[in-house]
Amino acid sequence: MLPTWYNQYKQIIEKSITDYLDLYFLENKNEVLNDFKESIYYSVSWWKRIRSIFALEFYLLFSNKTLVDLELESKDEIHDIIKFCIALEFLHSYSLVHDDLPAMDNDDYRRWELTTWKKYWEANGILVWDLLNSLAFEILWELKDQIVGLKLIKKFWKSVWLYGMIWWQVLDLYYENNNKELTLEKLVEVHNKKTWALIEFSIFWWILLSGFKWSLEKYLDFWKKIGLAFQVKDDLLDVEWTKEETGKSVWWEKKGFVFFIWIDETKKYLNDLVDSCFWIIEKLKSQKLEFLVWYIRDRKK
Ligand code: IPE
Ligand code: IPE
Ligand code: MG
Ligand code: MG
Repeated sequence: MLPTWYNQYKQIIEKSITDYLDLYFLENKNEVLNDFKESIYYSVSWWKRIRSIFALEFYLLFSNKTLVDLELESKDEIHDIIKFCIALEFLHSYSLVHDDLPAMDNDDYRRWELTTWKKYWEANGILVWDLLNSLAFEILWELKDQIVGLKLIKKFWKSVWLYGMIWWQVLDLYYENNNKELTLEKLVEVHNKKTWALIEFSIFWWILLSGFKWSLEKYLDFWKKIGLAFQVKDDLLDVEWTKEETGKSVWWEKKGFVFFIWIDETKKYLNDLVDSCFWIIEKLKSQKLEFLVWYIRDRKK
């Protein structure tokens, strides 16, 4: 079960996403839009929100603020860090919508429901990406602190290009068709470039811009390990759990970590990765971060 604080963060983020979209569609009224509009809400609806929860928690920790401070600082409009979380969730969600398309992973289920393209047809699945991508950038453009906003925009788009998500998706599809070429070493590289790599980068820049004073190298190493741990866990979910339990398709036949080093070694690898992240928790003395790190290892979805 998720702790109360996690659900509280999640609620704030989810309410802000809905408020943002409600206003957006109010300002862009068009009856014909209904189906498409529904598919947008559908694509960004619920589940872990783990990237934005990390972002919010790091922001609060580094700025010595609480949720009440955020509320006081932004009575009539959404706080910059929350806007950032919305952009992050849009980016993450659209990456999944495209990932599920027939031309990519051809998946019918995600988050225990039909995938966006399956429920709203393929064209909508493509167009959802177009809109969410533009909105993610628009939100950052609208940050109160425009200098930070501009820098984040640059980091965001860099994270999506070949350096980040696109690179990984290209490699992932390549190895699927050229299975024999995939080695454990290459798999680690591919995993490192997955969604998390781009998110980590964006979160990192946010922290940096809001007064970060640590060793960058060590901090980046933390994110790399967290990101890798997240993907290694995903490989374990693929072989240990069913579609009903994870809410999305599981791929037994996928050439992931388990293929190379089997289940027990993969678990050990994951444990070692997670253990090596604990220095940051000790340094920040944060039980919330401790929970998040364990959650990455123990999650069942
Ligand atoms: C799934 O990400 C995609 C991967 C990078 C493995 P999440 O597991 O964070 O997905 P949701 O948003 O919680 O469904
Ligand atoms: C999807 O990755 C996330 C992206 C990087 C776009 P996967 O295909 O490995 O994840 P699931 O299993 O569909 O969530
Ligand atoms: Mg994929
Ligand atoms: Mg997939």
